[in-house]
Amino acid sequence: MKDIRRTTVKEILADPAKYAGSEVDVKGWVRTRRGNKNVQFVALNDGSTINCLQLVFDLSKFSEESLKPVTTGSSIHVQGKLVESQGKGQSVEVQADELQIYGTADPAEYPLQKKGCSMEFLRGIAHLRPRTNTFGAVLRIRHALAFAIHKFFNDKGFYYFHTPLITESDCEGAGAMFQVTTLPLENLPRTEEGKVNYCEDFFGGPASLTVSGQLEGELGATALGCIYTFGPTFRAENSNTPRHLSEFWMIEPEMSFYEIEDNMDLAEEFIKYCIKYALEHCADDIQFLNDHFDKGLIDRLKFVVDSEFVRLPYTEGVRILEQSGKKFEFPVYWGVDLASEHERFLVEEHFKRPVILTDYPKEIKAFYMKLNEDGKTVRAMDVLFPQIGEIIGGSQREENYEVLKSRMEEIGMADIPWYMDTRKFGTVPHSGFGLGFERLVLFVTGMQNIRDVIPFPRYPKNCEF
Ligand code: 4AD
Ligand code: MG
Repeated sequence: MKDIRRTTVKEILADPAKYAGSEVDVKGWVRTRRGNKNVQFVALNDGSTINCLQLVFDLSKFSEESLKPVTTGSSIHVQGKLVESQGKGQSVEVQADELQIYGTADPAEYPLQKKGCSMEFLRGIAHLRPRTNTFGAVLRIRHALAFAIHKFFNDKGFYYFHTPLITESDCEGAGAMFQVTTLPLENLPRTEEGKVNYCEDFFGGPASLTVSGQLEGELGATALGCIYTFGPTFRAENSNTPRHLSEFWMIEPEMSFYEIEDNMDLAEEFIKYCIKYALEHCADDIQFLNDHFDKGLIDRLKFVVDSEFVRLPYTEGVRILEQSGKKFEFPVYWGVDLASEHERFLVEEHFKRPVILTDYPKEIKAFYMKLNEDGKTVRAMDVLFPQIGEIIGGSQREENYEVLKSRMEEIGMADIPWYMDTRKFGTVPHSGFGLGFERLVLFVTGMQNIRDVIPFPRYPKNCEF
């Protein structure tokens, strides 16, 4: 092999004129090999882009024997001249001079032969599925969205605030937490009354994986002004749906001096920014997903970017649902926690665009939401999306010490002294929301199941890989 700097397929295809006529050095995995007795064509993919680079092997230069290990899934290193392609389907190709095999992939064993594997099958080989076109596209889009999120908030002067993953508090009050303990489960230490003696546990008390970074996020916002978190979140709910994971990533901005309207404005701007960023920076990957899975994807993304979200109080939403004459699986009445079918009816059939539903009954929302003057509803806001349902949940926060304290007592919550101190010392109006990262990736990729937009999904009875 000659001493040539390696070039990625993405670099070459982004500017073929720059490399045409010169020797290039490429490394990657073989997607396909085909050809005849005189010439063999290899499609090389190195993960940098969905597109493959065509390598041409002249059989007067390479023996058939030497090309035998070059099968789908094998990894190779090739040097050769980049030239304009004679054939259809690509603008340039590499006339191979040198070939090095890194690793073979026995065709009798390698599970990713050709196309047509089902998503269920691929979930069973999650360690290899990033090598497929589909997952490559999804994972590159996922990266771009994560980058866009940091860029959006950084450009706005928000600070990235790291909240703990191990915690003592159940922010959402749903009780769906994974316990963290080093106590021996087979032989638990007991108190005199026979209860588990948590004094002997690692943290000296019961601890769990966090369901949300919000409570600590509020501590950050009431000091730094505007912050956001972006980290893993854990929920031990037994939800086997295409929208739920047991481990997912959440972005939680929290802003001092923001009222509910400012919160809605930010959420709408934020989500449009992310979608637009993906459309601009992931055009090839989104086009691939549009062509192969979901012909309406690009139109839907552009539509959401250009549409103004509907803003509607919960009470109005329930009235529309009641008067729709539609038979829902779950009943609709004031006070009910809306099901995904209700949310999707409002978005997909009634308004035909995203909806921000506000002012929910306090009983179905978390303790920290600001009470409205009616004493019955809270300043909550859920952003509802086509295909997805709830993509964002947020609210203005109750900043009044007495009101918050009595609300917590009303629902029998234990005091959280450090949280209450934000209301005791220099309290301010503030708001925030949580975006489920995988639900955003689901929307932007048009995939059907949330388990297919995270590299290694966690869901009930599955923790492999
Ligand atoms: O509505 P949620 O439960 O709100 C909170 O956790 C607040 N503390 C957020 C805040 O105000 N800072 O969750 C927020 C979002 C949901 O709208 C949804 O997109 C996503 O997180 N989400 C899930 N995503 C995947 N799997 C699950 N099990 C999810 N549960 C919630
Ligand atoms: Mg919610």
